[in-house]
Amino acid sequence: MQQFDVLIIGSGLAGLSLALRVAANKKVCVISKRKIHDSASNWAQGGIAAVLNNDDSIEAHIQDTLIAGAGLSDVAVTKKVVAQGKQAIDWLLTQGVNFTREPNNSLHLTREGGHSHRRIIHAADATGNAVQTTLAEKVRQHPNITLLENHIAVDLITTQKVKGMSAPSHHNLCLGCYVLDNHTGKVMTIAAQNTILATGGAGKVYLYTTNPDISTGDGIAMAWRAGCRVANMEFIQFHPTCLYHPHAKSFLISEAVRGEGGLLKLPDGTRFMPDHDPREELAPRDVVARAIDFEMKKRGLDCVYLDISHQPLEFIQAHFPNIYQRCLSFGIDISKTPIPVVPAAHYTCGGIMTDDKGRTDINNLYAIGETACTGLHGANRLASNSLLECLVFGQAAAEDILSQPTQAVAPLPFWDESRVTDADEEVLITHTWDELRRFMWNYVGIVRTDKRLSRALHRIHMLRNEVHEFYSHFRISNDLIELRNLLQVAELIVLSAMSRKESRGLHYSKDYPNQEADPVPTILEPSNYFSLLDSTHGHQPH
Ligand code: FAD
Ligand code: SIN
Repeated sequence: MQQFDVLIIGSGLAGLSLALRVAANKKVCVISKRKIHDSASNWAQGGIAAVLNNDDSIEAHIQDTLIAGAGLSDVAVTKKVVAQGKQAIDWLLTQGVNFTREPNNSLHLTREGGHSHRRIIHAADATGNAVQTTLAEKVRQHPNITLLENHIAVDLITTQKVKGMSAPSHHNLCLGCYVLDNHTGKVMTIAAQNTILATGGAGKVYLYTTNPDISTGDGIAMAWRAGCRVANMEFIQFHPTCLYHPHAKSFLISEAVRGEGGLLKLPDGTRFMPDHDPREELAPRDVVARAIDFEMKKRGLDCVYLDISHQPLEFIQAHFPNIYQRCLSFGIDISKTPIPVVPAAHYTCGGIMTDDKGRTDINNLYAIGETACTGLHGANRLASNSLLECLVFGQAAAEDILSQPTQAVAPLPFWDESRVTDADEEVLITHTWDELRRFMWNYVGIVRTDKRLSRALHRIHMLRNEVHEFYSHFRISNDLIELRNLLQVAELIVLSAMSRKESRGLHYSKDYPNQEADPVPTILEPSNYFSLLDSTHGHQPH
């Protein structure tokens, strides 16, 4: 058993920023299921939203966030996060991040959909990589931080799960985590005074996604199994513009391309956004993604086009060097021709419910970053507010952890694999993974109906039984852990979507196209699971 003061699961911006904020005073372990840089954070393009310009205001950023959130953002949380934007950027500057600057050395601000002002701080079109490279280097060198790459968290260890152990006042307390070392295949026990889920989103539950392979919703599934509430899981953000090319896996064309004048067009060159929204190409993402989906379905198109070719080559190369190069590698010169694009699953707005310090329902367990539902994003996240949220909640959780005296951790039981054997074949895992992602795309995508949701739920339950059987008999592997978690997250998305009897933000149902007058978040509680399932019985597929 290894012991730490703070165990951080995940090496994205949320995890690394928290690690660096507590490491002077705490013994920290960061685990990452692949290499340190395998994260959505590392892929972030557009930038980080913060109010740095005198023409802009905190109030305007708050309003833009609340409008995108479609009535479900928590106003107090939104005010807090937006107010700390400048401080968050200052912290990154002191860490040494090189953002793009104007000739007068002030930070260059770009624009994205839903923002009333230019307020996106960025490092060309590879902001995440600039931030992550700087922070990862510091984490690697820090004497108080142990970094375990290729280690995947399997399940949380809580007082409720450990026989004979109880927490004061019968609270459920997190004691650490079981972690599979992907090199040795052994499961180790890590005990910690505080455990932080910074595991990112769940885009891999869909066939088409902008997300990296690590985005399998592990934190949400682990927290749910341990007894945490999750909220707003129906609000999956589909980014309007993912490159459409047979060899381009998950390559995003940043919203900043539309921010800098990119226009969406049909194959014949006609613009269509003016027919859908007065904000045209700069409407929030839910509006633009639905408009593209509508045009593609109506006209039987494989993709639409994003055209920035009216901008000079030098401008494109300076602002979007990576997008330019990547498209060129597929034979698309974006300074001359429009870019073929389609919407793809991009961001999990819901997640593990937390308070304003990142604390979950389980004592000593925090959730920060995309895995959490803090209330900021409501029914739809505003572009570039995610990296900001990672930084602000990383700091809030760090302050809460630093305010606690360091305590010794209790010895924990080892992982028991006395009753399992090596798997005889892997086909169940690959096949189930593929099937799940395909029907989630077709049945639980941008436009939903009761019938499609019931079909999806029915299939999830069949697959889950098979995977559970496999999990109980065979030695676990990285892929099996991820698949089990994806099935869990898929169920939470579908159950949440079924309980919302309206269309709002990112959730659009043909059966309930209108909005309720008084919106409420969708909160699922593990203790209510069976009554929740009962309530879906009216939806059984015929
Ligand atoms: P991640 O950065 O995804 O990190 C999760 C970490 O957890 C990874 O290290 C992963 O390996 C680890 N992990 C997961 N499960 C386990 C497990 N079981 N055991 C061990 N480790 C585990 N947002 C913006 O604000 N601005 C942008 O410009 C922007 N651009 C984006 C572009 C792309 C292509 C994508 C995909 C997203 C973009 N986003 C952007 C969203 C933003 O990048 C993410 O929401 C944010 O980076 C999430 O950070 P995170 O630290 O919560 O998770
Ligand atoms: C993008 O660059 O379009 C992504 C921005 C975001 O997801 O916030």
